Amino acid sequence: MVLGDPVTGKEFFDRKKEMAILFSTLEDYEKGKKRNIAIVGLRKIGKTSLMKEFIRILHASKSGILCLEVYLPENDIQGFFTSCIKGIVIELLRIMKIPIKAMTLTDALKIIEQNYPRISIGIKNLIDFTNKVKYDDAFDYLFGIFEIVREETKNCVIVFFDEFQRMQEYGSILISPIDKFRQKVMNQKDILYIISGSAVGMINKLTSSSSSPLFGHFESMQLRGFEFEDASNFVLEKKEKTISISQENIAFLFEITNGNPFYLDILVHSIGRHCKFKGYTRVSNEVLEQILTDEIFQSNGSIYQNFSSLIEQSLERRGSIKYTKIIKSIAFGSRRPSQISKNTRISLTTLPAYLKKLQELEIIQRSNATKKNARFSEYELIDSLFELWLKQVYSLKEDSLLRDLSSRMQVFKKNISHIVLDYNSQLGKGDEARIRELFSMFNNDHAFGLIIPKFEKVERKTLAPNKEIDIYCYNISGIWIAEVTRERINITEINNIKDKVDTVKEEGNKVEKVIVITLKGIEQDALDLCKKYHFIVWGIVEINKLMKRKGMFKILV
Ligand SMILES: Nc1ncnc2c1ncn2[C@@H]1O[C@H](COP(=O)(O)OP(=O)(O)OP(=O)(O)O)[C@@H](O)[C@H]1O
Ligand SMILES: [Mg+2]
Repeated sequence: MVLGDPVTGKEFFDRKKEMAILFSTLEDYEKGKKRNIAIVGLRKIGKTSLMKEFIRILHASKSGILCLEVYLPENDIQGFFTSCIKGIVIELLRIMKIPIKAMTLTDALKIIEQNYPRISIGIKNLIDFTNKVKYDDAFDYLFGIFEIVREETKNCVIVFFDEFQRMQEYGSILISPIDKFRQKVMNQKDILYIISGSAVGMINKLTSSSSSPLFGHFESMQLRGFEFEDASNFVLEKKEKTISISQENIAFLFEITNGNPFYLDILVHSIGRHCKFKGYTRVSNEVLEQILTDEIFQSNGSIYQNFSSLIEQSLERRGSIKYTKIIKSIAFGSRRPSQISKNTRISLTTLPAYLKKLQELEIIQRSNATKKNARFSEYELIDSLFELWLKQVYSLKEDSLLRDLSSRMQVFKKNISHIVLDYNSQLGKGDEARIRELFSMFNNDHAFGLIIPKFEKVERKTLAPNKEIDIYCYNISGIWIAEVTRERINITEINNIKDKVDTVKEEGNKVEKVIVITLKGIEQDALDLCKKYHFIVWGIVEINKLMKRKGMFKILV
């Protein structure tokens, strides 16, 4: 197996929710209710693996269903048609139980012709169109072949288009391919389409905007990094059995990778290699520092190469070093256009075009303004490991004081070592204390409709024995109260909080805001009760956004 290639079978992990959606879509389709699916997610998040694993399971259980796998190559329309033909031929030979081995297309068509003469003619005609460079005719005709496959095999047909965003690029050769595709999808009631693509923004536009041509024909499935528990199982399962790794270190890996399976995979492999080489049986902080140096700092490291090729392919190829200047500026904390413009010397009038492109490439995203006086929105890097690389590796390269590799490496190792130590000490404090620390860092921050002031004091407050308030904040004009729970909150819990708030009021204090922080979710009736009492509710997503904004590590659930 090559690291970074799609994985299936034993190598494939989790994605139970997504797999369940795919199977229920299939069930509905078999009952005559078709819902096409668009799998969308960032680079290397596992889209192709999910499709391939779905097909693998499907073949094992319902071998009659035809899964036509089509990969859209970059700027290569001929390659697209070849991929379609291959997808059809491979599936037909499979249901005919004929091993493919080193068969030529001509040989394959001869075999197919015996059972499926119409499909065979269709494919030959398609080849004819493409040989004559009649690509628009070929494109039109292609969807007819999918229908013939369905009719002649009398089986369900699922067409998978991977890297679908490239369909739009084919627009330079084909006339409105997306429009045509939409018409076909709309008319073909009995062929199921599952498309997937990297450019989340772009595919989202295709699938969810009301003015877009694919609106209404695709349901979008967002693929994200693993959640903590799954990431943790992934690490435990993938690592060598003889090596032990602490929960703290797994949490650290989760923190820096954000649960991205590709990064996790690289780091776990690297841990295995390193420990084997050194004869270690335990992952220490030093091991973590070393493998991060190997993979992220060293130019032959897999994560290094992934990021440097992202810069080369996505940014430098666009012929401007302005993109890299902008993302470096954002990585170092200049998030507002005015600051970015000052740092990069790109004028405020030309900057928006670059920011827009970087958003389309899914490298940066808009974040809500954190300060009242921020006239414009702010921007952040989407991938926090990329951000770390830009700051700790890419930028060091240009630092004139750190010209030689070994001094740069020392700086990197020292910084990483700080991050690991800092993480362990933050983790040791517990969630409640860390959230309390977060509250003490606010300074007129805008967050989810609130302006959170700079508090004079933030503490844990005992009202009576066994009656404590987790986060009690003193503001000039009154008190802010926040309660943190690690259990799913119910009505009783909300009434408990209400009781404590009343006690504070009875003592003559003005309570300005009450924030309920629910790390594990909240029951609907409890949520309704919060509304009635004017309590604000934050979940894990909100709290982690704020933690990130203040440079703190994520709270794990
Ligand atoms: N479910 C999974 N279980 C285990 N590893 C996974 C899983 N999904 C992804 N990976 C890891 O991530 C890598 C990339 O996966 P994959 O090629 O499926 O992603 P992708 O989103 O299709 O990427 P691309 O943007 O390059 O098309 C794999 O090589 C593997 O290391
Ligand atoms: Mg892929």
